[in-house]
Amino acid sequence: MGTYAAQTQQEFEGWDEFYQIPNDEKLEFFMRDGRIFDVIYAQQFDRGFLDYLCNLADKIRLLAKVKVGQHKLRHLLPHKKAMLYFIQPSTRTFLSFQNACYSLGMSVSEIRSTTTSSEVKGESPEDTIRTFASYVDLIISRHSQAGFAEKTAWVLNQSHRPIPVLNGGSGPDQHPTQALLDIYTLEREFTRLGGLDGKTIAMVGDLKRGRTVRSLSYLMKNYRDVTLYFVSPEVFRMQDDIKMFLKKHGITYHETDDFEGILPLADAIYMTRIQNEYSEDPTSEEETYPAFHFKATHLDKIQAHCALLHPLPRRYEIEVCVDKDPRAAYWRQERCGMWIRSALIAYIFKVDQDILYEFS
Ligand code: CP
Repeated sequence: MGTYAAQTQQEFEGWDEFYQIPNDEKLEFFMRDGRIFDVIYAQQFDRGFLDYLCNLADKIRLLAKVKVGQHKLRHLLPHKKAMLYFIQPSTRTFLSFQNACYSLGMSVSEIRSTTTSSEVKGESPEDTIRTFASYVDLIISRHSQAGFAEKTAWVLNQSHRPIPVLNGGSGPDQHPTQALLDIYTLEREFTRLGGLDGKTIAMVGDLKRGRTVRSLSYLMKNYRDVTLYFVSPEVFRMQDDIKMFLKKHGITYHETDDFEGILPLADAIYMTRIQNEYSEDPTSEEETYPAFHFKATHLDKIQAHCALLHPLPRRYEIEVCVDKDPRAAYWRQERCGMWIRSALIAYIFKVDQDILYEFS
């Protein structure tokens, strides 16, 4: 069926030229009235926005603790509808966005496979997206193709009914809302240590194909005196575009394959899995790289305040018995995803001030 859809695919005049423009030169295209409208890349977020959203997420978290607060949240956006178009597998991003929408009173529709949409009849992804825009007020997408969310937003912004698009992961390219939740988690984990400024972060695993580490690296330009360690086997080194970005913004980074060596140096360790869904043979068991797994024996080697993160899903990268250690932050990180995505949706629909007003 993929072949049939490919045969029916038409050209979009101007898209190839737009796609070639460097991301930081086309951020305006995804803004309206001085605010972010579509969330496509991590480069869209500056420090002011990140601090604002983390504060908003904290307030939503507090409101959601009590019935009256939940009631207030649910009455913010009952007139808005969201489409979750997740045709690449997802558990956390899907559920956290879905529950973020519910907690703000929105209704949600979903498509999780092209086999159940009219794409099976050869409708293009772009026409599919335009169809969603006929019915809902927000599209959140997860797709295996790099640039998909960007093209979606580009198509809709030229239509008669532009609605916001949130990128829930586009191929090995970017996962900007994961980067938001990673920042929120790190800021929370370092609350008593002055926040993320000045910290040393180790990113471990498949840095070449991991979209979470790419988006998180982009956000580091917003923090002072951060040092990054990219820890990976040679074949999965971080890509040059990210390293060039870090150099341009004066962010210190080191590349190494000495996982044990960086353990005592890091304030946070961000583990990732091998992204073998992008391999020629995704079922190959060869790609496990045990030298880059966090084991219970490593707990004695990391700092007392070190935060251990993982975007999840996990395979072998962190031993299950590590979960009990208070420094294992990855389950808290999942929950942070729901709060920061709630904050993002509230911001997109301009009810952020209504939430902050509750605390004034
Ligand atoms: N972290 C993350 O994107 O998880 P899912 O693939 O389960 O959404």
